[in-house]
Amino acid sequence: MLIPTPTSFLLPFIVAFSALTLAAPSPPTPRRTLAGISVTDTPVARAAQAYAQQHCSPGTYQHVMRTWLFGVFILSHNTTLASRIDLEVHALGLILHDLATHHSLDAPFVSLDRRFEVDSAVAAADFIRAYDPKGKDWPSWRIQKVWDGIALHAEPSIALHKEADVFAIYWGNELEFSFGRQGGERMGVTEEEYERVHKEFPSPEEGGGGGGGGILGFVAWYSLCKPESTYNTWMQPYGELLVEGYSAVGHRVLDLSLAAAGLNVSELGKRRWMPEVQGESWSLYRLEDDEYEL
Ligand SMILES: *[C@@H]1O[C@H](CO)[C@@H](O)[C@H](O)[C@H]1NC(C)=O
Ligand SMILES: *[C@@H]1O[C@H](CO)[C@@H](O)[C@H](O)[C@H]1NC(C)=O
Repeated sequence: MLIPTPTSFLLPFIVAFSALTLAAPSPPTPRRTLAGISVTDTPVARAAQAYAQQHCSPGTYQHVMRTWLFGVFILSHNTTLASRIDLEVHALGLILHDLATHHSLDAPFVSLDRRFEVDSAVAAADFIRAYDPKGKDWPSWRIQKVWDGIALHAEPSIALHKEADVFAIYWGNELEFSFGRQGGERMGVTEEEYERVHKEFPSPEEGGGGGGGGILGFVAWYSLCKPESTYNTWMQPYGELLVEGYSAVGHRVLDLSLAAAGLNVSELGKRRWMPEVQGESWSLYRLEDDEYEL
């Protein structure tokens, strides 16, 4: 008969316990209360707030702080999501997500050609690496989550299918834009909580200081001054709608793939097509004259 020694008896528990402690991100301990909710208050979270305050306009600073608090309220209503979140990644991903939104080509972090989400993601990653040059607390995979969250904060078709941190950063920012329109409850966040956030970090219109403006003016500037950064992004249709002389033609994925196949947009556009799939093959069927092409 096999009598377990104390160590072999305990081993499964020890293994299970260490797996648990390894799997769960160690919870950052310092906290403070903002808008009536407890938030992460670690040194890096504080440094990120100071950095955002230094580099964003007052109106943008208030905006990013609101998105962080919306994010924290979302987590408070969704324990499944909260259990999968790295709270410092969450804080930095929201607080630093608009570092590159000054509407000037001379502003820090603003490139001539990259979309502003990428400029902001690059700036945030640089901030973290400067804060922790040896990567002791911030190994590259952790910085990567902040980068992804910021770069994808306006791309739900990807962000909502990535890691929980990226998903949650997307939603924190989304509530800033959808709540006013839809009212009621959003991702569990109530109107009363929404009001508390706005009271803590008011918008320029609410007396929070700084400039502001609607999304249309925000986007139109990019279409006018950094058009390359808008092609094939969510901004492109805004440019087409709002900005005289703006045209993505020649830069679209469509143009590039047709050119690679030696085809011509104006010629193709004259006909009506229907896609057809047969087994492993697909093709375009030309409606007018019953012919297969392509
Ligand atoms: C909670 O978060 C998960 C993602 O972890 C999401 O799939 C789910 O829809 C959320 N639940 C609610 C009620 O929002
Ligand atoms: C497309 O092809 C037509 C003739 O087939 C030609 O007249 C036209 O200039 C071409 N357009 C472009 C953009 O190449």
